Amino acid sequence: MKKQKILIIGAGGGREHAIGWKIAQSPRAGKLFFARGNAGTAELGTNLEIKEREISKLIDFAKNEKIDLTLVVADEPLALGVVDEFKKNNLRVWGPTKVAAQIEWSKAYSKNFMRKHNLPTARFEIFSNFEKAKAYLEARPPLGGLASKSSLVIKASGLALGKGVVIVKTLSESLQTLEEMMIKKVFGGAGNEVVIEEFLTGPEISIHVFSDGKTYKIFPASQDHKKIGERDTGLNTGGVGVVAPLPFMNKEMMQRIEKEIIAPTIKNLNAEEPFVGILYPGLMLTPDGPKILEFNARFGDPEAEAYMRLLDTDLLDIVDASIDGKLEEVEVRWKNKFACNVVLCSGGYPGSYEKEKIISGVCQRVSLTKDSMSKSLFDNDDDIVIFHAGTKINEREQLVTNGGRVLGVSALGNSLEEALEKAYKTIEKISFEGMQYRRDIGKKALEMIK
Ligand code: AMP
Ligand code: GLY
Repeated sequence: MKKQKILIIGAGGGREHAIGWKIAQSPRAGKLFFARGNAGTAELGTNLEIKEREISKLIDFAKNEKIDLTLVVADEPLALGVVDEFKKNNLRVWGPTKVAAQIEWSKAYSKNFMRKHNLPTARFEIFSNFEKAKAYLEARPPLGGLASKSSLVIKASGLALGKGVVIVKTLSESLQTLEEMMIKKVFGGAGNEVVIEEFLTGPEISIHVFSDGKTYKIFPASQDHKKIGERDTGLNTGGVGVVAPLPFMNKEMMQRIEKEIIAPTIKNLNAEEPFVGILYPGLMLTPDGPKILEFNARFGDPEAEAYMRLLDTDLLDIVDASIDGKLEEVEVRWKNKFACNVVLCSGGYPGSYEKEKIISGVCQRVSLTKDSMSKSLFDNDDDIVIFHAGTKINEREQLVTNGGRVLGVSALGNSLEEALEKAYKTIEKISFEGMQYRRDIGKKALEMIK
């Protein structure tokens, strides 16, 4: 069997480590390369000195190194058209093209797509002119029939590192937000166009599907925790904890989501431009049924960390079948377990934070196993896997922090309670100066079944 040389292009986070960790388990996986990587991916393969947005350097590397397969797994390289460039150079690549990924990188396109195809989402208006948007807010006309006193959500249309969404209650707040996005350009070009939409309420869930441009395979539902503080307080983050599958989701709700959202979305996306890769809609289960908050064209982080623990099928088989339009032939199996991933963050995150803090409690190339850095130093439980995000090895060969989200401690269990208990027990033995994490990951999901 020929082993494949594989390049993973992403943001060097826990998601990239988790995807690499899963790919490395394939009997067909050969050498792995990461652009960018972290201390965890360095152990699975080679971290390149090339950034995920340096397209021509990535292509040169793939050609010179004779890379058999490239996976593009983060929003920015997808929006820059890395997949298109690899294809143009006859390099085998997995991920949506720039046009297909537009469903994520332009919220204006995405909302218009939902309107056009009658997909359930918050009512909205789109503006590319500041004065018009301002006049709209000042008049507070009914947003598709909305009451004038309800909250509104203002979103920068482009990619804004997950920060371009602001919930506003008063007119002055909304005008200030609008000015920051459209005039002061706090999100750069991402705020040239804004979406103003209705505020929705209900539990938020993440759905992921594999798509090969023709058919799709749906994942179990998961729930991310986006706020830094317990009970969903404080600032928004990239996501600091996840659980899957969700004990409160029943078969009927999953079938409804598939019928009302997934099937029509995939069908209509493919009619415009075949979508190959992961489609990840963020949904809200409102009193009026499930509604789409946004679409992402890639794995979520930290969703990927939980999903890679649960996936029982060789990821490389799924990726290869997807590229070849043969996803229908692959049986995508999930372990009959629950998974969680609790993210350990630097003190100060999502604001400013210090780096280079020494991490203790995680194995460091001391054991002979290939993924030793994914182990806790103190217990040898296969249900626990530690995924690295902002970590690196410093000049003195010490494992140190190198980002806001530092480590993800993932665990499997026969119940969600069991998985969480294991993860938190492991976390007690890990430390670095300023370390912070939420102690209530999964709590909301568990309370819903009480
Ligand atoms: P997005 O990037 O569109 O997913 O928005 C980021 C976060 O803002 C979501 O995860 C939600 O928590 C929140 N959000 C977005 N749109 C709405 C909405 N229409 N109503 C209430 N919350 C929203
Ligand atoms: N889990 C949030 C994201 O990856 O966008």
